[in-house]
Amino acid sequence: PWRMFHTLRHEDPVHWQPEPSPNQGFWAVTRHEDIVRVDRDPQTFTSSRFVNLEELDDSQIAIRASMLERDGLRHRALRQMLQKQFTPRAVAEYGAFLRGLTAKTLDAALPKGRFDFVKEVSADFPINVLARMLDVPEEDTQQLIDWGNRIIGNTDPDYADVLLHSEESERYRDLPFRSPASLEVFDYGRRLAAERRGGDGTDLVSRLVNQTPADGVPLSPADFDNYFLLLVVAGNETTRHTITHSMLALIQHPEQLARLREDPALIPKAVEEFLRWASPVYHFRRTATRDVELGGKQIKEGDKVVLWFASGNRDEKVFGNPYDFDVTRRDNDHVTFGKGSPHFCLGNSLARLEIQIMFEELLPRVRDIRLTGDVPRVRSNFVNGIKELPVEVGLA
Ligand code: HEM
Repeated sequence: PWRMFHTLRHEDPVHWQPEPSPNQGFWAVTRHEDIVRVDRDPQTFTSSRFVNLEELDDSQIAIRASMLERDGLRHRALRQMLQKQFTPRAVAEYGAFLRGLTAKTLDAALPKGRFDFVKEVSADFPINVLARMLDVPEEDTQQLIDWGNRIIGNTDPDYADVLLHSEESERYRDLPFRSPASLEVFDYGRRLAAERRGGDGTDLVSRLVNQTPADGVPLSPADFDNYFLLLVVAGNETTRHTITHSMLALIQHPEQLARLREDPALIPKAVEEFLRWASPVYHFRRTATRDVELGGKQIKEGDKVVLWFASGNRDEKVFGNPYDFDVTRRDNDHVTFGKGSPHFCLGNSLARLEIQIMFEELLPRVRDIRLTGDVPRVRSNFVNGIKELPVEVGLA
């Protein structure tokens, strides 16, 4: 998509895209500065009409909205319930666990020599971390991982539980999130909630069920379902694809890999370049609440406005040589987690730490690593995903 984004940024940075059908049209916002302007102004550009391209009616919105699809006071109150659990300091407490999990994953995968890096390394790692934060019992963890991996928000026919836009999903139209695995996750979440209500646990579920949001309105059963599901899905594919893209980029840029190997203290900084380079979420959507001008275009109340984060991350006005992968890049003002938005990724510190620890543990274990086949991509306009990364490694 990079060439198309480049053309749009230069020729029509706020572009009206009428396809695929009349009420599916949207404004494509592709410049960094316009993305930031929209992201910072939730009063004009609301999330409450939903944040993907699909059009939902009011009844669907009412059952499906999580914090991601709310504005103002209620959004803040829901987010605050777990905000403290996702601060840099709070997630640092998972450092030892993350390192242990990473080491275990790598020590199982790397000795295989030739393997699929997605399947063996990046796929299950992020959701395993969430299982820990939710305090899912050991014997249920694999089940949660399987559900999480079936609920992926893309349009790729290879996946069992297609969430959006498919004929298959029509069967689930009247159900929240319309996907069989989601319904199982709801059941499972409710079971955990029932067990932990009134207890003194410090896991995410206990905190949700034993706390009243700051606006005084208790969590409804649907609020809980949608919160629990958001936690299971939000950091899963995103973090997985970032780790996979980063591995691929390091294989394709051996001089950058050598730099990190020589000076592992560069890794935390390099994570920012990994995030920019990977841009695992192509876009999120807003809806205009009033007529407004943006980039010389007249946006009308009710129009969909789509922020193409991936394009913003290659904007040459902000990034010198944006198509160069440079682990020492400075002033890396990427929009991978959004920018200035009240919805700025709640899990950003966790994702950053997961990626950092993954490469801190990986690099010293590996002497060389090369690709052994094609790298099939996920078919999706939402996630920039890699399905398989066939590699061969020599151990250090
Ligand atoms: C929100 C990206 C990892 C939880 C967001 C948003 C983006 C994003 C762009 C903003 C959505 C919007 O503006 O409408 C990413 C990327 C990740 C990642 C690229 C990995 C590289 C995680 C992780 C978690 C997480 C590990 C942990 C649970 C959330 C939640 C929200 C969110 C709960 C909603 C925040 C709100 O509405 O206030 N993420 N995310 N994310 N993310 Fe992440």
